[in-house]
Amino acid sequence: MSAAKVRKAVFPAAGLGTRFLPATKALPKEMLPVVDKPIIQYGVEEALHSGIRNIVIVTGRGKSAIEDHFDVGFELEHVLTSRNKAELLSQARQVSNLADVAYIRQKEPLGLGHAVSRAQELVGQEPFAVVLPDDVIDSATPCLRQLIDVYEFFNAPVLAVMEVPKESISSYGCIDAESVSYNGSTDHVFRIRDLVEKPKPGEAPSNLAIIGRYILTPDVFDCIGKVEPGAGGEIQLTDALRLLLRRRPIYAVKFEGKRYDAGDKLGFLQATVELALKHEALGGAFRAYLKGLDLG
Ligand code: UTP
Repeated sequence: MSAAKVRKAVFPAAGLGTRFLPATKALPKEMLPVVDKPIIQYGVEEALHSGIRNIVIVTGRGKSAIEDHFDVGFELEHVLTSRNKAELLSQARQVSNLADVAYIRQKEPLGLGHAVSRAQELVGQEPFAVVLPDDVIDSATPCLRQLIDVYEFFNAPVLAVMEVPKESISSYGCIDAESVSYNGSTDHVFRIRDLVEKPKPGEAPSNLAIIGRYILTPDVFDCIGKVEPGAGGEIQLTDALRLLLRRRPIYAVKFEGKRYDAGDKLGFLQATVELALKHEALGGAFRAYLKGLDLG
């Protein structure tokens, strides 16, 4: 049976963003700008470029700036139109014109698994993508597209993974997996044997870390419902995926591209510098500025 099309992407954005305090006291971290766009817009554009138009954002208290961002900025558009600023107007409209965005609240941040389950009714009985907006990914082929291609081939859930240094693996979910043949190669797609959330150093089954992109099937909702809350009362997505793994194969893709953890202060700075260097209008001047700095 051929795989059902992935049409929807869920963006959990109800977390507290404590790693980025004090900036995130009143401003959602998803709205912090990397160069000239808020973090979350990178993920939404990645979804659009992967063929997904239906965006579901899981929000919480203090996140209304996200809703305003993807709305039509009526006053702004009116001013730009009256001043004949066509280029700025098209930039302001670009994403809100292309994406169809729906919102659902997570009343308390009870974990990533819980946040994803809040989208169950909007997702319905179809496969869907999950995008953690903190993870900004720069790649030639959008990361979600790479995952969807593998999902369509195996007709099974797919997670994005990347190799990390041994000493950092305990900050991530980690997979125990065997490589499988895909598109004539055996070096970047894996069938998962087990998943471990934040393994202790020395106990990790591999150096393959799960990052914030997933293609999931609707049976994951039933698994999330069965997960017992872990530390801090949080319902972890990784625990639900372990249950799902007992029912069906799950695959992982070592994606091509570079991922920045923009929810972390250093990761955010790295994303800002590297994406500014690549920016069409700013890249040249920014490079010249950096070259002139005395970093000694
Ligand atoms: P993180 O752990 O990176 O986000 O969760 P956080 O909790 O906001 O950040 P810190 O660690 O306190 O700085 C990954 C993603 O899952 C969402 C977050 O908004 C983030 O996009 N999330 C997490 C929820 O939507 N709900 C939750 O209960 C937890």
